[in-house]
Amino acid sequence: MKNRSSSGRTAPAIPFARPSIGPEEEAGVLAVLRSGWLTTGPVTARFEEAFARAVGVPHALALNSATAGLHLALEALGTGPDSLVLTTPYTFTATAEVVRYLGADVRFVDVEERTANLDPARLASALEAAVREGRRVAAVVPVHVGGRACDMEAIAAAAARHGVPVVEDSAHAFPVLHRGRMLGTWGDAGVFSFYATKAITTGEGGMVVTRRDELAKRIRVMRLHGIDRDVWNRYTAANGSWEYDVVEAGYKYNLTDLASAIGIAQLAKAGTFLDLRRRVARAYLAGLGGCDWLDLPEDTDDNGWHLFVVRLSAERLSIDRDRFVGELQQRGIGTSVHFIPLHLMSYYRERYALRPEDFPVALRLYRAAFSLPIYPSLTEEEIARVIAAVCEVGERFRVR
Ligand SMILES: Cc1ncc(COP(=O)(O)O)c(C=O)c1O
Repeated sequence: MKNRSSSGRTAPAIPFARPSIGPEEEAGVLAVLRSGWLTTGPVTARFEEAFARAVGVPHALALNSATAGLHLALEALGTGPDSLVLTTPYTFTATAEVVRYLGADVRFVDVEERTANLDPARLASALEAAVREGRRVAAVVPVHVGGRACDMEAIAAAAARHGVPVVEDSAHAFPVLHRGRMLGTWGDAGVFSFYATKAITTGEGGMVVTRRDELAKRIRVMRLHGIDRDVWNRYTAANGSWEYDVVEAGYKYNLTDLASAIGIAQLAKAGTFLDLRRRVARAYLAGLGGCDWLDLPEDTDDNGWHLFVVRLSAERLSIDRDRFVGELQQRGIGTSVHFIPLHLMSYYRERYALRPEDFPVALRLYRAAFSLPIYPSLTEEEIARVIAAVCEVGERFRVR
């Protein structure tokens, strides 16, 4: 899409997301292509070791998506048909759908106004209510929305009071230090996404991290058909043997060496990428700070800035979010909406008889919010164009 600037020249559209792939990723993939071993093998093992070191835990298990990681983490914690998982409605369906894979029930807990993250006080009440009802709570799943840290001390304390494990959905949050500890390593398990738009990518992919040996062991078996050892060992170990046992009905969730080669190159750049995204965030905060019709995110150190979510003040503007986003699109600015809360989606709404007003904070945030482009390769000129377009639309439709 082209967009006509005030000078009359057409400026290229600014996409909502753009991956940062360089010669290191290309060289890594080429080496795997030439190695004779394409699927899960030595490169994936190296990616896992490097990732475990980067977050500071003993176990990192590579998978073909974060969805697979959430599924296997909950499975390893014993989530089953008799149990309940508490999570936020302000997320992507992957967070909750995996609970249904296991036959357990999802119970949503509303979010904090300030961060759009799971509200620890509401979580504490919801845990008490579930216990009073005699329900077994298999896990709590907080989501670090857009890379901004949840209040993990408060969430972990609320869960610990009832002996409930925590699985962090860190799909958006890498590499983010929160009160001295990496996000994803606060809970019993943490799950990262390497989907194409995420902080680092392998095209599609994910990683589960944990300190708990028995969880790692279970996930390792379940990610590859319930086979009791790695295929890689089966074919290549010096004492390699054709023999193996199937100890469970597992899944096909392994990550290929092709993808892991991209992951290794991306991991080495993760800190630089975060600095570059933070630069974009600070430029937006400075450039849009004077707009009284716009609520901006706080500038905190524990934000991975995967998303830059702004909210319109409805009473100060004569257009709603959808029209505002349309105006930006006409100016060549890609945007997205994070998130349409899950309790508005027909599956969850119908299954659990939910009404929009059951989660008023999530509903309010959703109606006002949209996300601006934020990624390492966004240039200063592009950042300035985004700021100018947002200001232009806002000032044009501002209530005077
Ligand atoms: C919060 C959240 N959790 C989980 C996922 C699933 O990630 P993946 O696509 O790697 O399965 C996503 C994907 O966008 C997400 O936004």
